[in-house]
Amino acid sequence: MNPTDLSDHSSPVARCFALVPCAGSGSRAGTVAPKQYEQIAGQSMVMHTLAALKSVGRLEKIVLVLSPDDAHVWPDDAVAHIQRIHCGGATRAESVFNGLTQLLAEGAKNSEGVQSSDWILVHDAARCLITDLEINRLIDACLDDEVGGLLALPLPDTLKASVNGRVSETLPRQDKWLAQTPQMFRAGQLHAALNAKAAENFEGITDEASAMEMAGFAPKLVVGSPHNFKVTYPPDFALAEDLLRSRK
Ligand code: C5P
Repeated sequence: MNPTDLSDHSSPVARCFALVPCAGSGSRAGTVAPKQYEQIAGQSMVMHTLAALKSVGRLEKIVLVLSPDDAHVWPDDAVAHIQRIHCGGATRAESVFNGLTQLLAEGAKNSEGVQSSDWILVHDAARCLITDLEINRLIDACLDDEVGGLLALPLPDTLKASVNGRVSETLPRQDKWLAQTPQMFRAGQLHAALNAKAAENFEGITDEASAMEMAGFAPKLVVGSPHNFKVTYPPDFALAEDLLRSRK
């Protein structure tokens, strides 16, 4: 076990919870409102994400981390069983850390809440094309794992490094993967890993796995799907719309 692991794994049954960071402004998307509220194939992007998580059926609870000033109006029936907490931070890592801090504090008062030995699946609100198939694949692969892991894709293309817009080097791609979400780790271990970087404003933490790596863990790579891309740039919306409509 890693020396930085101070979490308590004595709880008999580890359960799975989902934490959805949804507090970004989405500045690269070119939308007026935060991109997660943009309408895609008949409903807001985040509603597609939540529908996929709900369809898994083995998540104890789904928790949305929202910005403190988020005034989005949610359809009542759609978020009836979803906990919404307004503790988002300046970065994605801070939003996840704040959300986890709140959930573990609630769990310390109520055993139905998140315990440090429970699994947390962190999934971007902006990855609205995730399906129950991939989420279940990740859970099945990680449930008995010591560390946990993430969905990811082996890099299909040749990888170039650049200087001033010109190729400086072709890098080996054999061992390279593109990280996706969900990323599934023990709540206590992930919280400790993020906490260790809080004083440095989570410098270098672009996903949960990177925090776990810096704490000395080696997260498991589980093959995701090319469709599970993060809607980031303006053309991504049309592609997401086409794919979601093609599923109906
Ligand atoms: O901006 P990006 O697309 O990388 O964000 C990934 C996810 O993290 C999105 O669902 C976004 O809402 C969330 N996020 C957050 N808090 C931030 C920045 C991003 O919850 N400060």
